[in-house]
Amino acid sequence: MAQGVTMSLVPEKKSNPKIRHVIGVVSGKGGVGKSTVAVLLAQSLASQGRAVGLLDADITGPSIPRLLGVDTMKGESDGEHLFPIENEEGIRVLSINLFNDNEDAPVIWRGPLLAKAIEQFWQDTDWGDLDYLIIDFPPGTSDIALTALQQIPFSGIVVVTTPQDYVSMIVRKQINMATMLKAPVIGFVENMRTLVCPKCGEVIKLFDDGSDAQKALGLPILASLPWRQEVAQACSIRWAMLPEAVKKEALAIAQQVEMSAASAK
Ligand SMILES: Nc1ncnc2c1ncn2[C@@H]1O[C@H](COP(=O)(O)OP(=O)(O)OP(=O)(O)O)[C@@H](O)[C@H]1O
Ligand SMILES: [Mg+2]
Repeated sequence: MAQGVTMSLVPEKKSNPKIRHVIGVVSGKGGVGKSTVAVLLAQSLASQGRAVGLLDADITGPSIPRLLGVDTMKGESDGEHLFPIENEEGIRVLSINLFNDNEDAPVIWRGPLLAKAIEQFWQDTDWGDLDYLIIDFPPGTSDIALTALQQIPFSGIVVVTTPQDYVSMIVRKQINMATMLKAPVIGFVENMRTLVCPKCGEVIKLFDDGSDAQKALGLPILASLPWRQEVAQACSIRWAMLPEAVKKEALAIAQQVEMSAASAK
């Protein structure tokens, strides 16, 4: 990619002085666990006493309200600002689905409108003071991801992946996009490499492919989350109800995010 083209993609980012750090959870690939990891990261930071918000940037496939148990609540606006909803764990949540009368109504918008929605979520939302705003990205490198990475000054990006070669290729595209748009990538969360048998606790390898995308890119693995029945079957994720092993993995991600964010400032 020519340097001139890269530079023109990066307009001046607009910061929000009340938000200390913005962390993006991305993948490029769909269904690998971005939203799950975004929720676990938000909850583990909140469990450490941080003021946390979670912005659902997946406008056409929003899953955060359900995962955080606020899907029956409605978002508020005073005509100028949007206000997030606070869940029972104190996490402030914003998602397009909080403003839809019917959560099943599809958002059938073309790219420019999707980009505008992200712009509004970032610029016009009164989040209050936050230590961390976590942004759950949709899959892919199209309009929403581009607008978010162009406009928001990220302290760090967490990349979620499953260890399969073709996934790694798609994920590398997203990492390259973040790098081109000056968003520092903190590392990988590897999801579902193994499965913990719900009956006997045996750890079984789901993916044999030792895809080394992270090594090739010189990025650390922040955590490796096994497939777990409790996570797969949960309608919403409650920190207090999670098995200790999951909390430990989530806290490991949070700790490394905090270290990286502190050094990014
Ligand atoms: N470690 C895990 N153990 C069990 N199930 C998991 C795990 N991680 C994710 N899942 C399940 O896999 C599915 C996809 O996860 P999730 O919605 O977080 O992915 P995503 O990358 O955000 O998807 P999308 O690209 O559609 O936004 C969900 O049903 C989720 O519950
Ligand atoms: Mg998702």
